[in-house]
Amino acid sequence: MAFPFLCVLQKFYASILNFGSLNIDYTYSLEHIVQPGETITFRSLEVFPGGKGLNQSIALARAGANVYHAGLIGSDGEFLRDICRESGVKTEYIRETEKRTGNAIIQVSEEGQNCIILYPGANREQTEAYIDEVLKGFSAGDILLLQNEINLLHYLISEGVKKGMKIALNPSPFDEKITTCDLSKVSLFLINEVEGEQITGEKDPEQILQKMEMLYPGAETVLTLGDKGAVYGNGTERIRQEPVRVKAVDTTAAGDTFTGYYLASVMEGKTKAQAMKEAACAAALAVSKKGASSSVPWRRDVERILIQG
Ligand code: RIB
Repeated sequence: MAFPFLCVLQKFYASILNFGSLNIDYTYSLEHIVQPGETITFRSLEVFPGGKGLNQSIALARAGANVYHAGLIGSDGEFLRDICRESGVKTEYIRETEKRTGNAIIQVSEEGQNCIILYPGANREQTEAYIDEVLKGFSAGDILLLQNEINLLHYLISEGVKKGMKIALNPSPFDEKITTCDLSKVSLFLINEVEGEQITGEKDPEQILQKMEMLYPGAETVLTLGDKGAVYGNGTERIRQEPVRVKAVDTTAAGDTFTGYYLASVMEGKTKAQAMKEAACAAALAVSKKGASSSVPWRRDVERILIQG
Protein backbone atom coordinates (compact mmCIF):
# COMPACT_ATOMS: atom_id res chain seq x y z
CA MET A 1 0.00 0.00 0.00
CA ALA A 2 1.20 3.50 -0.81
CA PHE A 3 2.66 5.54 2.03
CA PRO A 4 0.26 8.41 2.79
CA PHE A 5 2.94 10.96 1.98
CA LEU A 6 1.93 14.58 2.53
CA CYS A 7 -1.34 13.71 4.30
CA VAL A 8 0.85 14.29 7.33
CA LEU A 9 1.41 17.81 6.08
CA GLN A 10 -2.24 18.68 6.11
CA LYS A 11 -2.58 17.49 9.69
CA PHE A 12 0.45 19.13 11.26
CA TYR A 13 1.28 22.02 8.93
CA ALA A 14 4.78 20.66 8.41
CA SER A 15 7.52 22.71 6.81
CA ILE A 16 9.46 21.93 3.68
CA LEU A 17 13.23 22.09 3.77
CA ASN A 18 14.74 22.15 0.30
CA PHE A 19 18.45 21.33 0.59
CA GLY A 20 19.66 22.13 -2.89
CA SER A 21 21.84 23.89 -5.42
CA LEU A 22 22.02 27.59 -6.17
CA ASN A 23 23.50 28.45 -9.58
CA ILE A 24 24.24 31.44 -11.74
CA ASP A 25 22.86 30.52 -15.18
CA TYR A 26 24.63 31.90 -18.27
CA THR A 27 22.01 31.44 -20.96
CA TYR A 28 23.17 31.60 -24.58
CA SER A 29 20.43 31.88 -27.23
CA LEU A 30 21.39 30.24 -30.51
CA GLU A 31 19.71 29.14 -33.72
CA HIS A 32 20.43 25.51 -32.80
CA ILE A 33 22.34 23.68 -30.10
CA VAL A 34 26.01 23.36 -31.02
CA GLN A 35 27.05 20.02 -32.57
CA PRO A 36 30.38 18.21 -31.90
CA GLY A 37 33.15 19.98 -33.85
CA GLU A 38 30.96 22.99 -34.70
CA THR A 39 31.58 26.64 -33.73
CA ILE A 40 28.65 29.04 -33.75
CA THR A 41 28.15 32.63 -32.60
CA PHE A 42 25.36 33.15 -30.12
CA ARG A 43 22.58 35.72 -30.56
CA SER A 44 22.32 36.86 -26.95
CA LEU A 45 23.73 36.11 -23.51
CA GLU A 46 21.65 36.62 -20.38
CA VAL A 47 22.45 35.87 -16.75
CA PHE A 48 19.68 34.35 -14.62
CA PRO A 49 19.33 32.96 -11.09
CA GLY A 50 19.12 29.16 -11.35
CA GLY A 51 20.02 25.77 -9.99
CA LYS A 52 17.47 22.99 -9.60
CA GLY A 53 17.33 23.55 -5.86
CA LEU A 54 16.79 27.30 -6.05
CA ASN A 55 14.24 27.00 -8.90
CA GLN A 56 12.19 24.47 -6.92
CA SER A 57 12.25 26.61 -3.76
CA ILE A 58 11.10 29.61 -5.75
CA ALA A 59 8.29 27.58 -7.33
CA LEU A 60 7.20 26.35 -3.89
CA ALA A 61 7.23 29.88 -2.45
CA ARG A 62 5.50 31.52 -5.44
CA ALA A 63 2.86 28.80 -5.18
CA GLY A 64 2.33 29.80 -1.53
CA ALA A 65 4.22 27.09 0.42
CA ASN A 66 6.21 27.60 3.61
CA VAL A 67 9.67 26.67 2.27
CA TYR A 68 13.14 26.91 3.79
CA HIS A 69 16.12 26.69 1.44
CA ALA A 70 19.52 25.40 2.57
CA GLY A 71 22.59 25.43 0.34
CA LEU A 72 25.89 27.16 -0.33
CA ILE A 73 26.93 30.15 -2.41
CA GLY A 74 30.19 32.06 -2.93
CA SER A 75 30.59 35.81 -2.45
CA ASP A 76 29.47 36.23 -6.10
CA GLY A 77 26.09 34.63 -5.36
CA GLU A 78 24.45 37.02 -2.91
CA PHE A 79 21.83 37.99 -5.52
CA LEU A 80 20.59 34.39 -5.43
CA ARG A 81 19.79 34.76 -1.74
CA ASP A 82 18.00 38.03 -2.57
CA ILE A 83 15.76 36.51 -5.24
CA CYS A 84 14.85 33.66 -2.87
CA ARG A 85 13.88 36.19 -0.19
CA GLU A 86 11.91 38.35 -2.65
CA SER A 87 9.94 35.28 -3.71
CA GLY A 88 9.07 34.37 -0.12
CA VAL A 89 11.64 31.58 0.48
CA LYS A 90 13.06 31.46 4.04
CA THR A 91 16.82 31.97 3.57
CA GLU A 92 18.36 31.75 7.05
CA TYR A 93 20.01 28.38 6.27
CA ILE A 94 21.78 29.57 3.09
CA ARG A 95 25.51 30.00 3.85
CA GLU A 96 28.42 31.65 2.04
CA THR A 97 31.67 29.70 1.43
CA GLU A 98 35.13 30.47 0.01
CA LYS A 99 34.40 28.69 -3.26
CA ARG A 100 32.66 30.54 -6.09
CA THR A 101 28.96 29.95 -6.66
CA GLY A 102 27.96 27.06 -8.90
CA ASN A 103 27.12 27.99 -12.46
CA ALA A 104 25.46 26.59 -15.54
CA ILE A 105 26.19 27.23 -19.18
CA ILE A 106 22.88 26.84 -20.94
CA GLN A 107 22.29 26.83 -24.69
CA VAL A 108 18.71 27.58 -25.76
CA SER A 109 17.73 26.90 -29.38
CA GLU A 110 15.11 28.73 -31.49
CA GLU A 111 12.68 25.89 -30.67
CA GLY A 112 13.16 26.53 -26.96
CA GLN A 113 15.11 23.32 -26.32
CA ASN A 114 18.14 23.49 -24.06
CA CYS A 115 21.33 21.72 -23.05
CA ILE A 116 23.27 22.44 -19.88
CA ILE A 117 26.86 22.19 -18.63
CA LEU A 118 27.25 22.48 -14.84
CA TYR A 119 30.11 23.77 -12.71
CA PRO A 120 29.19 22.68 -9.14
CA GLY A 121 31.40 25.18 -7.23
CA ALA A 122 30.01 25.91 -3.74
CA ASN A 123 27.19 23.36 -4.25
CA ARG A 124 29.65 20.53 -3.56
CA GLU A 125 31.08 22.06 -0.36
CA GLN A 126 28.41 20.79 2.05
CA THR A 127 29.79 19.19 5.22
CA GLU A 128 28.11 16.76 7.61
CA ALA A 129 28.40 19.42 10.36
CA TYR A 130 26.48 21.97 8.25
CA ILE A 131 23.79 19.43 7.39
CA ASP A 132 23.43 18.40 11.06
CA GLU A 133 23.09 22.06 12.07
CA VAL A 134 20.35 22.75 9.52
CA LEU A 135 18.42 19.54 10.28
CA LYS A 136 18.25 20.56 13.96
CA GLY A 137 15.55 23.06 12.92
CA PHE A 138 13.23 20.34 11.57
CA SER A 139 11.30 17.44 13.02
CA ALA A 140 9.17 14.39 12.28
CA GLY A 141 6.60 14.98 9.57
CA ASP A 142 8.55 17.77 7.88
CA ILE A 143 9.47 17.28 4.24
CA LEU A 144 13.03 17.17 2.95
CA LEU A 145 13.17 17.94 -0.76
CA LEU A 146 16.36 16.99 -2.61
CA GLN A 147 17.85 17.04 -6.10
CA ASN A 148 21.25 15.75 -7.28
CA GLU A 149 23.34 18.91 -7.70
CA ILE A 150 24.88 18.90 -4.21
CA ASN A 151 27.28 16.57 -2.38
CA LEU A 152 26.42 14.29 0.58
CA LEU A 153 23.01 13.37 -0.81
CA HIS A 154 23.20 9.90 0.79
CA TYR A 155 23.92 11.51 4.17
CA LEU A 156 21.01 13.94 3.83
CA ILE A 157 18.63 11.09 3.02
CA SER A 158 19.73 8.92 5.95
CA GLU A 159 19.85 11.78 8.48
CA GLY A 160 16.52 13.19 7.30
CA VAL A 161 14.85 9.79 7.72
CA LYS A 162 16.41 9.37 11.18
CA LYS A 163 14.61 12.57 12.18
CA GLY A 164 11.32 11.23 10.81
CA MET A 165 11.32 13.61 7.85
CA LYS A 166 9.68 12.48 4.59
CA ILE A 167 12.05 12.49 1.62
CA ALA A 168 10.93 13.87 -1.73
CA LEU A 169 13.62 13.25 -4.35
CA ASN A 170 14.06 14.70 -7.82
CA PRO A 171 17.10 12.59 -8.88
CA SER A 172 18.25 15.12 -11.43
CA PRO A 173 20.77 15.21 -13.02
CA PHE A 174 20.96 11.41 -12.70
CA ASP A 175 24.47 10.00 -12.17
CA GLU A 176 26.29 7.31 -10.18
CA LYS A 177 25.90 9.37 -6.97
CA ILE A 178 22.22 8.43 -6.95
CA THR A 179 23.13 4.75 -6.87
CA THR A 180 25.03 5.28 -3.60
CA CYS A 181 21.84 6.51 -1.90
CA ASP A 182 19.34 4.27 -0.14
CA LEU A 183 16.37 5.04 -2.37
CA SER A 184 14.13 2.73 -0.33
CA LYS A 185 14.00 5.64 2.16
CA VAL A 186 12.39 7.97 -0.40
CA SER A 187 8.64 8.63 -0.02
CA LEU A 188 8.07 10.59 -3.23
CA PHE A 189 10.01 10.46 -6.50
CA LEU A 190 9.64 13.32 -8.98
CA ILE A 191 11.20 12.12 -12.23
CA ASN A 192 11.07 12.62 -15.99
CA GLU A 193 11.14 9.85 -18.60
CA VAL A 194 14.94 9.94 -18.92
CA GLU A 195 15.49 9.57 -15.16
CA GLY A 196 12.73 6.95 -15.11
CA GLU A 197 14.66 4.90 -17.67
CA GLN A 198 17.96 5.43 -15.83
CA ILE A 199 16.45 4.12 -12.58
CA THR A 200 14.32 1.28 -13.96
CA GLY A 201 15.79 0.40 -17.37
CA GLU A 202 12.27 0.82 -18.85
CA LYS A 203 11.24 3.29 -21.57
CA ASP A 204 7.45 3.04 -21.59
CA PRO A 205 5.83 5.29 -18.91
CA GLU A 206 3.54 2.55 -17.56
CA GLN A 207 6.47 0.12 -17.39
CA ILE A 208 8.54 2.75 -15.57
CA LEU A 209 5.79 3.22 -12.97
CA GLN A 210 5.31 -0.53 -12.50
CA LYS A 211 9.05 -1.04 -12.02
CA MET A 212 9.23 1.89 -9.56
CA GLU A 213 6.42 0.27 -7.58
CA MET A 214 8.28 -3.03 -7.59
CA LEU A 215 11.63 -1.52 -6.58
CA TYR A 216 10.25 0.97 -4.04
CA PRO A 217 6.94 -0.33 -2.71
CA GLY A 218 5.21 2.28 -0.61
CA ALA A 219 6.71 5.24 -2.49
CA GLU A 220 4.76 7.58 -4.75
CA THR A 221 6.04 8.59 -8.18
CA VAL A 222 5.22 11.64 -10.27
CA LEU A 223 6.50 11.01 -13.81
CA THR A 224 6.62 14.03 -16.12
CA LEU A 225 6.47 13.29 -19.84
CA GLY A 226 7.34 16.64 -21.48
CA ASP A 227 4.81 17.47 -24.21
CA LYS A 228 2.88 14.29 -23.36
CA GLY A 229 1.82 15.50 -19.90
CA ALA A 230 2.47 13.65 -16.64
CA VAL A 231 1.31 10.61 -14.69
CA TYR A 232 1.16 9.82 -10.97
CA GLY A 233 1.43 6.31 -9.55
CA ASN A 234 1.39 4.88 -6.04
CA GLY A 235 0.93 1.15 -6.43
CA THR A 236 -2.85 1.26 -6.42
CA GLU A 237 -3.80 4.21 -8.62
CA ARG A 238 -2.84 6.18 -11.70
CA ILE A 239 -3.65 9.84 -12.28
CA ARG A 240 -2.98 11.16 -15.77
CA GLN A 241 -2.48 14.82 -16.59
CA GLU A 242 -2.82 16.02 -20.17
CA PRO A 243 -0.20 18.49 -21.42
CA VAL A 244 -1.01 22.20 -21.34
CA ARG A 245 -0.01 23.45 -24.81
CA VAL A 246 2.04 26.65 -25.18
CA LYS A 247 4.67 27.93 -27.59
CA ALA A 248 7.99 26.90 -26.06
CA VAL A 249 10.43 29.79 -25.62
CA ASP A 250 12.75 28.15 -23.07
CA THR A 251 12.15 24.81 -21.35
CA THR A 252 14.72 25.50 -18.57
CA ALA A 253 13.18 24.98 -15.10
CA ALA A 254 9.89 23.56 -16.43
CA GLY A 255 10.44 20.37 -14.39
CA ASP A 256 11.48 22.41 -11.34
CA THR A 257 8.32 24.49 -11.60
CA PHE A 258 6.22 21.32 -11.85
CA THR A 259 7.90 19.89 -8.74
CA GLY A 260 7.42 23.05 -6.65
CA TYR A 261 3.79 23.56 -7.63
CA TYR A 262 2.88 19.88 -7.21
CA LEU A 263 4.25 19.80 -3.66
CA ALA A 264 2.79 23.18 -2.71
CA SER A 265 -0.68 22.23 -3.95
CA VAL A 266 -0.72 18.88 -2.15
CA MET A 267 0.47 20.62 1.03
CA GLU A 268 -2.45 22.98 0.74
CA GLY A 269 -4.71 19.93 0.92
CA LYS A 270 -5.65 19.77 -2.74
CA THR A 271 -6.21 16.39 -4.40
CA LYS A 272 -3.34 14.86 -6.32
CA ALA A 273 -5.29 15.29 -9.56
CA GLN A 274 -5.72 19.01 -8.85
CA ALA A 275 -2.07 19.31 -7.84
CA MET A 276 -1.00 17.68 -11.14
CA LYS A 277 -3.21 20.11 -13.05
CA GLU A 278 -1.85 23.17 -11.27
CA ALA A 279 1.72 21.92 -11.70
CA ALA A 280 1.18 21.36 -15.44
CA CYS A 281 -0.25 24.89 -15.88
CA ALA A 282 2.63 26.42 -13.92
CA ALA A 283 5.22 24.46 -15.95
CA ALA A 284 3.57 25.59 -19.20
CA LEU A 285 3.81 29.22 -18.09
CA ALA A 286 7.50 28.69 -17.23
CA VAL A 287 8.18 27.26 -20.70
CA SER A 288 6.65 30.31 -22.38
CA LYS A 289 9.24 32.64 -20.75
CA LYS A 290 13.04 32.86 -20.86
CA GLY A 291 15.25 31.97 -17.91
CA ALA A 292 15.17 29.51 -15.02
CA SER A 293 13.73 30.87 -11.76
CA SER A 294 12.83 34.13 -13.52
CA SER A 295 10.29 32.16 -15.56
CA VAL A 296 8.58 30.54 -12.55
CA PRO A 297 5.04 31.98 -12.36
CA TRP A 298 3.28 33.32 -9.28
CA ARG A 299 0.16 31.54 -8.00
CA ARG A 300 -2.18 34.32 -9.27
CA ASP A 301 -0.94 33.79 -12.87
CA VAL A 302 -1.48 30.05 -12.63
CA GLU A 303 -4.97 30.62 -11.25
CA ARG A 304 -5.81 32.90 -14.18
CA ILE A 305 -4.96 30.06 -16.60
CA LEU A 306 -6.95 27.55 -14.54
CA ILE A 307 -10.02 29.81 -14.63
CA GLN A 308 -9.73 30.18 -18.41
CA GLY A 309 -9.85 26.35 -18.56
O1 RIB B 1 16.61 22.65 -14.07
C1 RIB B 1 17.20 23.81 -14.59
C2 RIB B 1 18.48 24.14 -13.88
O2 RIB B 1 19.42 23.13 -14.13
C3 RIB B 1 19.14 25.42 -14.33
O3 RIB B 1 18.67 26.55 -13.63
C4 RIB B 1 20.62 25.14 -14.14
O4 RIB B 1 21.22 25.90 -13.15
C5 RIB B 1 20.70 23.65 -13.84
O5 RIB B 1 20.93 23.41 -12.52
